[in-house]
Amino acid sequence: MGSKRKAQDELQDVHDMDGSVGTSLVFPKSDLSAVQDSRYASLYAKEVDFRSLSKQDAEFAAILKSNGQLDFSDPAAVMQLTKTLLKLDFGLKIELPNDRLCPPVPNRHNYILWLKELLDTTSYSEPGRKLTGIDIGTGASCIYPLLGTTQRPWYFIATDVDPRSLEYARRNVSINGLEDRIRIVAKAKDDPCLLPLDDCGIEKVDFVMTNPPFYESEADLDQSAKKKARPPNSACTGAPVEMVVEGGELAFVGRLLEESLLLRDRVQWYTSMFGKLPSLHEFLGKLRQNGIDNYAVTEFVQGRKTKRWAVGWSFGDMRPSEKAARGLKAANWKSLLPSPTAAEICKFPTERGVSPVVDDSASAGHQEEAEEVCKLGFLVAVRVARSEATVGVRWLEGHDSGLFESLAGYLKTQLNSTM
Ligand SMILES: C[S@@+](CC[C@H](N)C(=O)[O-])C[C@H]1O[C@@H](n2cnc3c(N)ncnc32)[C@H](O)[C@@H]1O
Repeated sequence: MGSKRKAQDELQDVHDMDGSVGTSLVFPKSDLSAVQDSRYASLYAKEVDFRSLSKQDAEFAAILKSNGQLDFSDPAAVMQLTKTLLKLDFGLKIELPNDRLCPPVPNRHNYILWLKELLDTTSYSEPGRKLTGIDIGTGASCIYPLLGTTQRPWYFIATDVDPRSLEYARRNVSINGLEDRIRIVAKAKDDPCLLPLDDCGIEKVDFVMTNPPFYESEADLDQSAKKKARPPNSACTGAPVEMVVEGGELAFVGRLLEESLLLRDRVQWYTSMFGKLPSLHEFLGKLRQNGIDNYAVTEFVQGRKTKRWAVGWSFGDMRPSEKAARGLKAANWKSLLPSPTAAEICKFPTERGVSPVVDDSASAGHQEEAEEVCKLGFLVAVRVARSEATVGVRWLEGHDSGLFESLAGYLKTQLNSTM
């Protein structure tokens, strides 16, 4: 099916879904995924309420201090929090060794939420389709595949190099009955390939994710544990085998980038978390040096202190939503963000009547070359609020940001001249 046909079908879906165009939000259905997944999307929007958790789970009540606080320097308390959140919010069971990383659930969940947005907004299909992903370095918890398969019909290949983590990851898949959805694959530490596509006989996957070992050395890891007043090599900090890699996270994700330059479209989205801001900065430079224009950057903020970042890049044509692609808030990072994928065309008061404008302007379009390569896929949409309507355009497909900017400029001139 050509891109134009798909874009028109997508638009038709929007019309069918809304019943009457012009009375509700008209944007690609994929941008509505957050609404459909609203329970998951809002789970950790507010800080976790420990007293409420203790009422719902006796094991959590047993480790909560009488003042309602949790002792984050105590690995047992941290582990119980993870177990309780997985049980209450996702219906998942988990077994973890004391000497391996215990994942904080809200942070890991944030990565899954971002992935959903990224994948939903870079496809003409409805959100909720079957997808396959690779989790590099799944850890003892196998946390990402567990969270991903709970929320979506996703399938995972989960790798690790640490025998102890692999043993527990297999156990966690099995106690949740997910053996047919998550395949654990052992990789050799000296294997130059991070992605087991050929080992597994798989041609393509939809996404790759990883929470890489952040640190360059054990001294680096110990230093970080000291700063947080936590016991080194515990469930809170992780063991050196999990957390330390030569060259740190930048080298690890750099390896993924090199591999992606060979595999290209065999993966739609290559993504990674970053624990250090300077690594992220340097990595974005590497993407640009390699001519990769279709990328997404975001930050995961949980509580007052913990901040992590994530980057995704693609060799495909589909452009992610602004929310997925340009999620860094700080103004000094604006220059590093990818080109905008949405623009506001005009606003007008609704008492002037919206129907004729809506009927004429809500349309999808594209410019194709003779061989059916889509140069620009876009959707014009109207958002109607009580007192004001906004016309916007969303860049859906293509690599030429200049073409999208010209289109937005042209629409602005044309529409504003008719107002
Ligand atoms: C920071 S931990 C992340 C664990 C888990 N994904 C999480 O988010 O809690 C990094 C993981 O990567 C694994 N690892 C290190 N080198 C690897 C490699 N070359 N291939 C696959 N996994 C690797 C480590 O054993 C460790 O389990």
